[in-house]
Amino acid sequence: MVKIEFRDVKLSFGSKVVLDGVSFTVKKGEMKVILGQSGSGKSTMLRLLLGLLKPDAGRIFVDGEEVSYKTEEELVDVRRKMSIIFQEGALFDSLSVFENIAYRPRDLGWDEDRIESRVREVLDFAGLGDVADQLPESLSGGTRRLVAIARAIVDYPEIILFDEPTVGLDPPTARKLCEAAIRLRDLDNVTSMFVTHRLVDVKFLSSNYAIRGKDKQTLILPEDHQVCLVNTNFVVINEGKVVFNGTDEQLWASQDKFLRSFVQEDEEL
Ligand SMILES: Nc1ncnc2c1ncn2[C@@H]1O[C@H](COP(=O)(O)OP(=O)(O)OP(=O)(O)O)[C@@H](O)[C@H]1O
Ligand SMILES: [Mg+2]
Repeated sequence: MVKIEFRDVKLSFGSKVVLDGVSFTVKKGEMKVILGQSGSGKSTMLRLLLGLLKPDAGRIFVDGEEVSYKTEEELVDVRRKMSIIFQEGALFDSLSVFENIAYRPRDLGWDEDRIESRVREVLDFAGLGDVADQLPESLSGGTRRLVAIARAIVDYPEIILFDEPTVGLDPPTARKLCEAAIRLRDLDNVTSMFVTHRLVDVKFLSSNYAIRGKDKQTLILPEDHQVCLVNTNFVVINEGKVVFNGTDEQLWASQDKFLRSFVQEDEEL
């Protein structure tokens, strides 16, 4: 089942053509990693999907429903299906971690018991039980990013958009964040678009999968090379066009000059 579709989407800012006929689909439960140079339009694609920007031409669909030309009021329901995690996960400074996460459920009118139990559940998911009562300013940048994830998943979004969520994180925290994305993909069937520049993320996301162990604990396991278990695919954009759409194996094996230089360039980061 197709969850997200971009169909021949075009967008320019003034004379600058950013997207020049972009088409791809993301299936339910799939993670689509979006790669492209700085300024290639990756964040713009996420903003289009949320309906924060309108394309000049082309169509964008979520669950078969066109979002591209909807008004703000018409977008309310479809936006409820989506959450976005920015590089700088903006938290409310004056609210505790718990209250930051509880903010949206309160806004949606959930009762206190449901809020308490769901917030505890996502705190647990993100490994944040110890910091529930702290203010964001007392936390490290990496922990704040995990709070942003917890906040983004609290009301069960069907689609999560990650916009370079690992930039500036130390390797273990970046890995934790990627593991959270893998768990959402494999255990909760969440559909996602994951924008990143970091080849380590790309490799990790495309070669590990999550299962639930005997005692209900989550296990993150490396892919067995015999079978392709990992539901992550790639879109690479360059000069407004999709220049690659496929699996990690196809990406590594590509002889295309741009893809090679891009992958190698990233390897140095
Ligand atoms: N609101 C805007 N007005 C004018 N130009 C814009 C606007 N938003 C983005 N752009 C331009 O569109 C291009 C694509 O921007 P975008 O932020 O989508 O790139 P990106 O691929 O996310 O880059 P990065 O990897 O640096 O985050 C850039 O040249 C940017 O300057
Ligand atoms: Mg960006």
